[in-house]
Amino acid sequence: MVFQVGSPPAIVFASRLTLQTAAIAADSTVIRCLDWDRDRFDIEFELQNGTTYNSFLIEGEKTALIDTSHGKFKDLYLEELEAIVDLKTIDYLIVNHTEPDHSGLIGDLLTLAPQITVVASKVAMQFLQNQIHRTFACQVVKSGDRLDLGLGHELAFISAPNLHWPDTMLTYDSGTGVFYTCDVFGLHYCDDTLYDEIPALLEADFQLYYDCLMGPNARSVLAALKRMEPFAISQIATGHGPLLRHHLTDWTERYRTWSEAQAKAEPFVALFYVGEYGFSDRIVHALGQGLLKTATAVELVDLLDTDIATVRELVTTAAGLVLGMPPQSAPGLEPILSTILAAAHPKQAIGLFETGGGQDEPIFPLRNRFQELGLTSAFEPILIKAAPTEATDKLCEEAGTDLGQWVNRDRSQKQAQSQDSGLDQALGRLSTGLYILTARKGDVSSAMLSSWVIQASIEPAGVAIAVAKDRAIESLLHWGDTFVLNVLEEGHYQRLMKHFLKRFPPGGDRFEGIATYAAANGSPILAEALAYLECTVTHRLEAGDHWVIYCTAKAGRVAKPGGLTAVHHRKASNHY
Ligand code: FEO
Repeated sequence: MVFQVGSPPAIVFASRLTLQTAAIAADSTVIRCLDWDRDRFDIEFELQNGTTYNSFLIEGEKTALIDTSHGKFKDLYLEELEAIVDLKTIDYLIVNHTEPDHSGLIGDLLTLAPQITVVASKVAMQFLQNQIHRTFACQVVKSGDRLDLGLGHELAFISAPNLHWPDTMLTYDSGTGVFYTCDVFGLHYCDDTLYDEIPALLEADFQLYYDCLMGPNARSVLAALKRMEPFAISQIATGHGPLLRHHLTDWTERYRTWSEAQAKAEPFVALFYVGEYGFSDRIVHALGQGLLKTATAVELVDLLDTDIATVRELVTTAAGLVLGMPPQSAPGLEPILSTILAAAHPKQAIGLFETGGGQDEPIFPLRNRFQELGLTSAFEPILIKAAPTEATDKLCEEAGTDLGQWVNRDRSQKQAQSQDSGLDQALGRLSTGLYILTARKGDVSSAMLSSWVIQASIEPAGVAIAVAKDRAIESLLHWGDTFVLNVLEEGHYQRLMKHFLKRFPPGGDRFEGIATYAAANGSPILAEALAYLECTVTHRLEAGDHWVIYCTAKAGRVAKPGGLTAVHHRKASNHY
């Protein structure tokens, strides 16, 4: 049974949003929100075929909704949900993942149906509490927990951290064999065909989605596949694209093949933590984001949900290790910690953090042990004494990036050396001005020296800037972010250039000793700059190892009329 509501897909609107509702198994219904014209996803994805956001309803003796939808579907989705179920009878909302394309309507739903108990992993619940500024009934679940809805629908929860966020879990209905996986096995493909009937239409988008979202976490994909093995799966109900039923083994084997190849090929960092303790999840997420900026694969390992053989294998093969201090009272951890110490080796880097749990194992004796074993400290131990803030997140992200850069140092050197010297020198003859980008967002600020800057539009005034993917300031230059482009002055730039070329420690203050004042957009203007522009990011284009940031300039001023812009002449393309 398939119902279509909303505007018909054949009619072209500026943005076509339609719904498809269908029975998919006993007592189980999907509401697919079809976003026909979406052409971009996150910051990486350019979409060719739109996308869908899929939400599911299971009506046993108890009723559970699995994930909601994107905020842009608020009216369509909520009207449709009310048409198929009395909202006051929904007992549970299962949240497999908290990115807004799935959680965007949770706040609205809870306003209409405040009796709902939200069921999610611990970290998902933390993210939700930051997203939904209201109290709600909640039930934290972990791998192996079950929830009986009656009429045979017993739900089992399987933790799948790092696919692609640390909050992710999968939900299996033993009554129907339907595996609800949210992002996992998804694809951005908008069509009113409910299932994967013609794989050839889907393959390219399935692979692009894997490459962008899952590939960087290949080892975690393999761990999730292993956890799925005991379940007899009738269909995979993904959060994006068609549901997978006709070619199940083919799709899952593609994930396995790609992940095995990826896991063998790439250096990775093993990140050990106790998910249930302190603020570990949030810290791990930020560290992981920083590592991903350097294209370093990450393997997340919950110390309370692993075994010695797995730990030994990971520590032996990892290029870097991160360890979140477990609680002193945790049972059974001593052999695992001993295994990590026994398998660690001098070719690795190590990073340690306290979790803010209040009773962490002492961090410095352990740091000393790793140093005695010859490991390199990738960053100073991160000491979390209070609830993390945006500044803590940024510090952790920068620490992750430092570790990733260390892990990839040989690869980066080889790439630089492999560049044809003629090409390298010719590229180096592209001379430009010298600029300092400065940005402030909440209590986080950053800056970088930049020379790859050009005017790109007259009306509106637009500027394009290339920013390396692993730059700390890159996280502050997403769509809608604001910043200041400071123009340096010929003859007066050496001090600023030297200062901003320095390597800052994670979370380090870039503006210490530098005179600044605030622009209207809040970012720092350098008092010594020749001129400045206040900019807003409106586009990002992926360009090899850089992002090309296109921004419109809203205001600007020349501080020293008659001054000349500093011009930068280089001998080679890959350094100043
Ligand atoms: Fe479909 Fe990670 O959100």
